[in-house]
Amino acid sequence: MKKISDRIFYVGVNDTDKVQFEGLWPLPYGVSYNSYLVVDEKVALIDTVECGFEEEFISNIEEAIADRHIDYLVVNHMEPDHSSLIEYVMQRYPGLMIVANARTVPMLKGYHGTPEEKIMVMAEGKRLSLGSCSLSFHMIPMVHWPETMVTWLDEEGTVFSGDAFGTFGAVQGDVVDDEDTFAQYRDEMIRYYSNIVGKYGNPVQSALKKLSGLDVKRICSTHGPVWEHNVDSVVSLYDRLSRYEVEKGVCIVYGSMYGNTAAAADALAMELEAAGVPYCIHDLAGNNSGELGISGALRDVFKYDTIVVGSPTYNNGIFPPVETFMKALQARLIKGRRFYAFGSYTWAGASVRQLNEMASSMGFVLLGEGMSFAQAYSREKCDMAALAEILK
Ligand code: FEO
Repeated sequence: MKKISDRIFYVGVNDTDKVQFEGLWPLPYGVSYNSYLVVDEKVALIDTVECGFEEEFISNIEEAIADRHIDYLVVNHMEPDHSSLIEYVMQRYPGLMIVANARTVPMLKGYHGTPEEKIMVMAEGKRLSLGSCSLSFHMIPMVHWPETMVTWLDEEGTVFSGDAFGTFGAVQGDVVDDEDTFAQYRDEMIRYYSNIVGKYGNPVQSALKKLSGLDVKRICSTHGPVWEHNVDSVVSLYDRLSRYEVEKGVCIVYGSMYGNTAAAADALAMELEAAGVPYCIHDLAGNNSGELGISGALRDVFKYDTIVVGSPTYNNGIFPPVETFMKALQARLIKGRRFYAFGSYTWAGASVRQLNEMASSMGFVLLGEGMSFAQAYSREKCDMAALAEILK
């Protein structure tokens, strides 16, 4: 438990055991499931945490309010990392009412069998008095599910923002940020955004527009630190990411079966290094342990303006992990990128052509027809110095 202000208490937990978030995304630094209490004449709990943390969660709550009762459980978002313990909390605090919006009601019934008489349905902007302060509720659909809303505590300039402004990475130390915290979490925040929310740029823009009318002094999201000292930086990063804005640089993403496409990728990386071009390189085939794979590649697609993709020809098509990456770009509606493809084949090349077709379908600018080479990689077959010049 951590006291954030006279009224607000952090009662969330860190998960450093889970290997993959949503069963997909690596968690090398863990993740936090944040939950908050607003304590006034009435007590409101905002979101719960993932199942498996029942004891720690209740212990945090009791440390904050001792034997006081919880009057309201505000459900900002129904994804199970935040809603898993709804029934558990309702059993512990039987008089409690669920506070949610209309789109949440069928999900509450479907996931938890919550009876309608236990749900207070809140319309957009509706206020709920807790005594000396009040909460209001604002829909931000598709950030990250259609039912998602934020809760605004005007008296504290605090937005309980759900997944918005969240980040991977367990919460270290003090929970509330300091001047250095944003720099420490920036990469994991971009990875979180690109992996989880990246498809929803337009809804995030709509949400930011809605929040721009509020004087936000504190952001309490469901993942990562409480933001007080970096509110502008955090909002501005989300603004930039949701507009698909990038800086100059090259994101090399490849998969390789026997090392030839990998050798070409490495050779290109060396030429970019020599030319002073910012770049990153991601192996999707899992040959390098410790790599983030597609998760890290998506993060860097949201950083750099140029994507270079390498795939050998496999079953007369794209190597499956690389095809999955390309589909992940399509799913996230990535736009405004420069693109180049390369890859080896043995008897008939198909991957580069198909990669170009997928890139064209996303409106990417092709920087050439690509580099499809037969059998082994060699400097003679692949002029990576010339390609680095094109990519500058
Ligand atoms: Fe952290 Fe969309 O749940």
